[in-house]
Amino acid sequence: MTSRILLTGGAGYIGSHTYVALCAAGHEVVILDNFANARRSVPERLEQITGRPVRVITGDVRDGAMLDAAFARHGFDAVVHFAALKAVGESMTRPLDYFDVNVGGLTTVLQAMERAGCRRLVFSSSATVYGVPDETPTPEIAELRAMNPYGQTKIIGEQMLGWLQQADPRWAVGILRYFNPAGAHASALIGEDPRDIPNNLMPYVARVALGALDRIAVFGDDYDTPDGTGVRDYIHVEDLARGHVLSLARLVGSGMGHVVNLGTGRGHSVLEVIAAYQRACNRHLPHVIIDRRAGDVPIYVARADKAAEVLGFRTEKTLDEMCASSWQWVSTAEGLT
Ligand SMILES: NC(=O)c1ccc[n+]([C@@H]2O[C@H](COP(=O)([O-])OP(=O)(O)OC[C@H]3O[C@@H](n4cnc5c(N)ncnc54)[C@H](O)[C@@H]3O)[C@@H](O)[C@H]2O)c1
Repeated sequence: MTSRILLTGGAGYIGSHTYVALCAAGHEVVILDNFANARRSVPERLEQITGRPVRVITGDVRDGAMLDAAFARHGFDAVVHFAALKAVGESMTRPLDYFDVNVGGLTTVLQAMERAGCRRLVFSSSATVYGVPDETPTPEIAELRAMNPYGQTKIIGEQMLGWLQQADPRWAVGILRYFNPAGAHASALIGEDPRDIPNNLMPYVARVALGALDRIAVFGDDYDTPDGTGVRDYIHVEDLARGHVLSLARLVGSGMGHVVNLGTGRGHSVLEVIAAYQRACNRHLPHVIIDRRAGDVPIYVARADKAAEVLGFRTEKTLDEMCASSWQWVSTAEGLT
């Protein structure tokens, strides 16, 4: 069944890949983005990939009047809400900006949805809501603990959505807790494109592979993990995008809200990622072991069975495919322009 979908933050990394997946599933999608963290060239590239005109509203999710006009014009059936600020370190120094965009923006979107009678939402949450988890692989029922203002905004968002569904059962919300998104679209036309020195491992490794950074700093090799380096659950962004299509199908089809992890259920260490990237780019990537980084957790891996049960979601792509697609993206003229 075709749905008309508003994709906030749809020009960003995960949003742009989800746009492609939603179009492929036959949905009509409109992107809303203020391009605070996206290139202006993204819509044109999405047109190249999908072969169809891309509808974009350039605007801010905190602008209720603009949202009302968009709902009146397009009559959306559902919203996928990606738009947010996402840099953990920055959230420690600019917490108010994070509360404003991530909590205020979500509130404004929900109010506009309520006014328009559109009560289906997919929300981008994060594994960071688990803080330092007691259990790994981590199940959805684990306690939520904020380690920084960014994580706090995701917990607040989840809680707001929980209360909203309790107050009015006409609301149905899919809360998706992403583990570590990585890789790029097979076309190499869209991918992750951090403006500053990346915080995440894969884009950092990519910069070293390109020669833009000297070497990879590995934060600690004395953790209680198989090779001593930190272990994360990397999920290919195209698999992640598919998770949103399935979440929407569940919301629209059955009206059932859900909270699920989106991960592979399998961890890879920092050294494994470096080795895989070396295979992808066919060059040696220098790395140096330095002290542990404050706030880092040894292992972050999803319990992935609930997403399989509730959404029928299973990842398909491997770490090698994530590295190969990342390398293809950053090393072609299309990437990082
Ligand atoms: N990338 C990750 O590792 C990761 C992990 C877990 C959760 N998430 C969440 O997934 C979502 C998407 O993340 P991403 O990696 O694609 O980030 P991104 O920065 O690439 O995408 C976010 C998009 O939102 C837009 N945006 C920001 N503020 C806006 C505003 N006020 N109004 C309208 N648009 C605005 C940005 O321009 C950008 O295009 C975010 O909510 C993020 O918190 C990301």
